[in-house]
Order: sequence, then structure tokens, then C-alpha cells
Amino acid sequence: MSQLNLVLLGPPGSGKGTQGERLQEDLELPYYATGDILRAAVREGNELGRTAKDYMDRGDLVPDEVIVAVIVERISRSEADDGFILDGYPRTRVQAEALDEEVERVGRTLTATIFIDISDEEVLRRLGGRRTCPNGHIFHVEFDAPEREGVCDLCGEPLGIRDDDKPEVIRKRLERYHTDTEPLVGYYDEHGLLHRIDGAESPDQVYASIRATLATVRMEEEA
Ligand code: AP5
Repeated sequence: MSQLNLVLLGPPGSGKGTQGERLQEDLELPYYATGDILRAAVREGNELGRTAKDYMDRGDLVPDEVIVAVIVERISRSEADDGFILDGYPRTRVQAEALDEEVERVGRTLTATIFIDISDEEVLRRLGGRRTCPNGHIFHVEFDAPEREGVCDLCGEPLGIRDDDKPEVIRKRLERYHTDTEPLVGYYDEHGLLHRIDGAESPDQVYASIRATLATVRMEEEA
């Protein structure tokens, strides 16, 4: 079986993390979510975290050179020899081109970009009710409530609201998405890698659509 090198693309709150968790478990591939990596660095208070914190708190993008270095290091690890799942990267054209260069340098190709598409109204509904635990497990007060209020079903840690899920920060993140990241939909379409998924469906339906898409991509590769 050839490598599976996947990119999950979509607006804030489209479900990249929700679907990424499931894909990681089923495909047994390393899952590199730049938001999770940066939040862990902020918690640790290391250099990456100190650089990223202000940008994240105001809903801005961390500078390209910082995040490119993080991803290049991850995908060159031996654990990623069979492939990887990227969530939240790339977010700018510079990042997309850096990824292309790196996969080419190590003799690989991207398999597919899964674009999870939802409206801005849905983004606001989703992020307004999101709850997460320190280990990055994701819930929603209405759409995916935990069994015990305020407690993670998976690890028992307390659930909280992400610092950047405040209304004014959400607006800024959406703005940055439309100006910097949405153009990547066209970029990957031109490269024949884009697969659009309706993210407004239930998490199970979205997941079924992603798996069906990946099965088709695999069949086309083998044909
Ligand atoms: P990051 O953590 O990547 O944030 P994001 O892209 O804004 O995405 P989110 O994590 O908010 O949403 P998601 O799509 O994963 O949705 P989720 O599954 O949680 O980045 C944070 C910050 O880090 C950035 O703002 C930036 O500062 C920095 N950063 C990160 N990467 C960077 C990069 N490459 N370059 C520069 N800076 C970078 O779902 C959301 C909610 O909806 C949950 O409550 C969930 O339960 C619910 N839900 C999910 N799916 C469904 C469904 N189908 N139906 C109903 N509810 C659903």
C-alpha cells in the first residue's frame, strides 16, 4: 500500500479536529494538528509557545517561517514514513508551497486535500458551544455533549472553553481564514488534489463521506 499523505482544510470550527481524531485512530497515521502543537507549546512555556501566544490570542496567524519549521520537522520523522494527516496546515500559500517542496525533497507526493466546507453562521454556532480538555478531545454543548457535564468522556480531565473561542477572536480568525486560507481551495483544486466535503452534516456523516472519498482516491491510484 502506498503512503497516505493527507491535508485537512477548512474554516475554524469546520470539524477538522473532530474528523482528524477519527482518521488518526482508523488509519494509524501520525496526526499533526498545528493548533494542538502550538497550544501544547504555550502550556509548556517553551520558545515556540512564547512566540505563538500573542498571535493566537488575537486570532492572527503565527508567522509562516515559525510554523513551516514545525511541520517540516514533523513530517521528516520516521513515524511518518507511511504517511501523515495534517490539520490546520497549510494556512497560507507560502505554507502550501513549503509543504510541496518538503514532500518533493523526500520523494513523496500529497495524496489528497480534504476540504470540510461550512458557512460562517455554522462556524459561529460550532465555536460558541465548543468545549475541549487539556488533551485536545473535542465536545460541543449541543451537538456532541459529554456524558458528565464539564468532564471529558475519554480522559476524565475537566472541559473548558478555548482562549480563542471568544466572539471577537472568532471573528478575527474567520477574517484571516477568508483572506489567507480560503485561496488554498483553488490552489489544491488546480493541483487536482481537492475533495470537497459538506461539513454541515452530522459528524458520522462527514466521516463517512471522507472515508468514501479516500477509498475512491485509493482505487484511482491503483487503477
Ligand atoms: P486551530 O486550533 O487549528 O484552529 P482552527 O483552524 O481555527 O480550527 P478549530 O480547531 O477551531 O476547529 P476545527 O475545524 O478543528 O473544528 P472542531 O473539530 O474543533 O488553530 C488555532 C490558532 O493557532 C490559529 O488561530 C493560529 O493563531 C494558530 N495556527 C494554527 N495553525 C497555524 C498555521 N498553519 N499557521 C499559522 N498559525 C496557525 O469542531 C468545532 C466544534 O464543532 C466542536 O465543538 C465539535 O464538537 C463541533 N462539531 C464538529 N463537527 C461537527 C458536526 N459535523 N456537526 C455539529 N458539530 C460539530
